Parts: sequence; C-alpha cells; structure tokens
Amino acid sequence: MTAIEASAPGKIILLGEHAVVYGQPALAVPLGSLRATARIVPGQPSAGLTIDALDIGVRLSLATAAMNALSLTARLVLEAAGAAEPDAEIELHSTIPIASGLGSGAAVAAALARALGEYVGRSFSAAELSDLVYEVEKVHHGTPSGIDNTVVCYEQPVYFLRGQPPRVFHAARPFHLLVADTGTPSPTRETVGTVRAAWQREPERCEALFTRIGDIVRTGYRAIEGGANEKLGPLMSQNHALLQELGVSSARLDALAAAAVTAGALGAKLSGGGGGGSLIALVRAADAAGVTAALESAGAVRVIHTTVS
Ligand code: PMV
Repeated sequence: MTAIEASAPGKIILLGEHAVVYGQPALAVPLGSLRATARIVPGQPSAGLTIDALDIGVRLSLATAAMNALSLTARLVLEAAGAAEPDAEIELHSTIPIASGLGSGAAVAAALARALGEYVGRSFSAAELSDLVYEVEKVHHGTPSGIDNTVVCYEQPVYFLRGQPPRVFHAARPFHLLVADTGTPSPTRETVGTVRAAWQREPERCEALFTRIGDIVRTGYRAIEGGANEKLGPLMSQNHALLQELGVSSARLDALAAAAVTAGALGAKLSGGGGGGSLIALVRAADAAGVTAALESAGAVRVIHTTVS
C-alpha cells in the first residue's frame, strides 16, 4: 500500500461565537490557506499504529496511548470502519496556530480521520466526518456547539444552529477579510468557561446578550446573501462589543480592533473563543495593505488576507 494524504482547513467565525453554544445561530467560513495535513504510510509488521504530531513533538502508539484527542480520533475511525489497528505510521502537520480561535483541533482531527479512514477502506461523508470530529471536540472543551467540526469538515461557509443540519451558503458578492493573530494563545475551554460562569451568575443579562448576538447573525446572513457586504462591517463591530460585555475580549484584541477601524476597516471583531487568539477585520480590497500595516504596528504577529465567496 502506498502513502495516503488528507487535509482539512482552519476556520473563522464571522459572527455569533459563544452565543452559538446557547442555541443562537452563527456564521463560519473555512480558511483554506491554513491547513492541517495527515500522511499515513505502512509501518513494520506487528508495530501497530503510531501517530507523530510533528509540530508539537508528540509521538504515540495507539495500543498504549492514554485517551487524548489524537488517540480518540484514531479509535473512533477504526470503530466506524470495523477495522483492526493497522501497522502504519501517521505524520501530522499543521500550519494553523494552536489555541488561536482558528479551529486547529478540529482540523487536525478531520485530517487524521480522513487519512486513516481511507487507509483502512472507509471514506467518510462530510456529515459523518463532522459527527466523528464533534466527539473529539468534546475533549478540547466540554460543551462544543459543533460549529468548528461542521465548517472544517464541510469546507464551505455555513449558517450553523446547534442541533440542526448546517446550511451551506455562498456570498452573493465576495468580500475581503484580514485575520490577525494576537500571538496570545487562549484555549477555548477557558473562555467557554468564563461565559458559562457569567451565565450562571447573571442568566438574564447573558441571555439578553446572546439574543442580541443572534439578531446580528441573522441580519448579517441576509446581508451576505443579498450582496450587501458593507452592512457586515458595523455588525461585526457590534458583535465585538457584545463579546466584550460577555468578558471574552482582551486589551490586545480591543487595540487591534480599534487600529483596524482607524486604518479604514469596515468593522472588526474577535473570532473564535477570544481572550487572545485571532481578530478579523472586513476591508475593501484597496485598503487591505494599509489595514494590514496598521494591525502589525498595533502588535499582530501575523496577518492573513482571505476572500470569502
Ligand atoms: O476558539 P475556537 O476556534 O474553538 O471557536 C470556538 C467557538 C465557540 O463558540 C467559542 C465555542 C463553540 O463550541 O462554539
């Protein structure tokens, strides 16, 4: 058998993170320029399956590995395939920064599951893969909404509502986003916990914020479908303000948002879990270079330009 390679993209949440955990809709798009890749090759006879996560210096043998996201993914794939553990080696590599709100955990699991599945003769539909990765996401944080695994596995923009089949959409007119990395990793588990604690303390205040975020998502979805992209900017900035009220922004994220808007962005917000991680800014194509420079001067460690279509 020859080598098999599979990959999965990172993702951006355009609108609606956190509130989506509490039943509000959210919009997410794949970020194809950052990817997780899994390559599987035959190993020595009787050696079992080894997984080498090159970027984080982790190497494990499935037979002896403790339960973690990688071993769970492999076990779920073998179970779904009804296959015995193969003698093979999997190399994982990802260009998606970890704990940056860009869906790295979901993408690594999706790439691993696709490659191992194909190796043992089981190819997954997007929906099947998404369900499998959802089980793995629960290891990263206890109560995932399911949005990360969905957008990463479908690799299409999605309107997502917890518990319902995702609605894939396309922008009537393409639009430009800058994705700025604060350089501060922030595990989603922590910010999801911050919101949960706030919600337990002040349920009414938090529910009201979730409802307002849900309204922004629905309005934004209509704007994108109708080609009224310029309306999206103010909606993103309003969403950021509501996330600040939920306690999941940071001084660095707020500084980047302000710098982007001052330099001509139509709107900006944190994306993903927050607390650090990534900021996204909506820009006109002509302003992309200027806003990128402003984000870098304000402390972004990396800025990626992507087009949503
Ligand atoms: O930080 P990320 O990329 O895992 O995004 C999480 C999105 C949240 O809404 C904060 C959590 C969730 O499960 O939807």
